[in-house]
Amino acid sequence: MKVAVIGAAGGIGQALALLLKNNLPAGSDLALYDIAPVTPGVAADLSHIPTPVSVVGFSGQDPTPALEGADVVLISAGVARKPGMDRADLFNVNAGIVKSLAEKIAVVCPKACVGIITNPVNTTVAIAADVLKKAGVYDKRRLFGVTTLDVIRSETFVGQLKGLDPTQLDVPVIGGHSGVTILPLLSQVKGVEFTSEEIASLTTRIQNAGTEVVEAKAGGGSATLSMGQAACRFGLSLVRALQGEANVVECAYVEGSGEHTRFFAQPVKLGTEGIEEVLDYGVLSEFERASLDDMLETLSGDIAKGEEFAK
Ligand code: 2OP
Repeated sequence: MKVAVIGAAGGIGQALALLLKNNLPAGSDLALYDIAPVTPGVAADLSHIPTPVSVVGFSGQDPTPALEGADVVLISAGVARKPGMDRADLFNVNAGIVKSLAEKIAVVCPKACVGIITNPVNTTVAIAADVLKKAGVYDKRRLFGVTTLDVIRSETFVGQLKGLDPTQLDVPVIGGHSGVTILPLLSQVKGVEFTSEEIASLTTRIQNAGTEVVEAKAGGGSATLSMGQAACRFGLSLVRALQGEANVVECAYVEGSGEHTRFFAQPVKLGTEGIEEVLDYGVLSEFERASLDDMLETLSGDIAKGEEFAK
């Protein structure tokens, strides 16, 4: 497998590249690209780590050498939030970056599975989809908004609250990747009971967790290390499924049946072609049903903004 990290010199990209260098299956190739001239140096640095994963790095205006032959492309390129900003405030810069990268992917590696980390994910995924569609290469089984950070945050916070090992918890998160569109399905956490106050406060904390980090970094950016870990978990799951492992399930923001909105984060079963099956997210509690109804206008607006931009 060849995995390309685009935006590899940034905070998320470097953390992600480090984790992939250490965790990709033996024989994998890791290709790094970033506009920043330091990128070949990031690859040289990583190349001294003794794992059976090759690593190369490219900088400059053209991501082609990193994208060539890629099975998986993870995109974290773009600007990050500063305190007081919403993910949507990143649209003006990041929309254009994702558009031009999708145009390149359409030509260089149209069959790759593409995971988008660049915010606002609710919108940038719609941009990438429509750019790929315009180029005649869109396959909805192969495009993902990476929402795994919402899942790992949920697992962490539930573990902290209940004194449980977070690695043993499984918390599906549906909707999107911004504020009220992030909906953890706490009613589905096996063997754990919550009071309604706990559900309300945990849900709010999970929805605002990105902002918690932005404020704590006080102008120094947004989540990079936890995002790198989340994207690595998602990328490794994708690689395992592409290589034929059965029953690999992750939540991701994908184009599903369109029951609620064109793109929607939900559990998906991954397979050798990308998404094998978009899974039913199951029965919702009354609180979750109301939260879902409340988010739909925001999520549809975020998607429409991306569709409009791609036009
Ligand atoms: C977050 O949720 C960076 O969007 C990312 O923190």
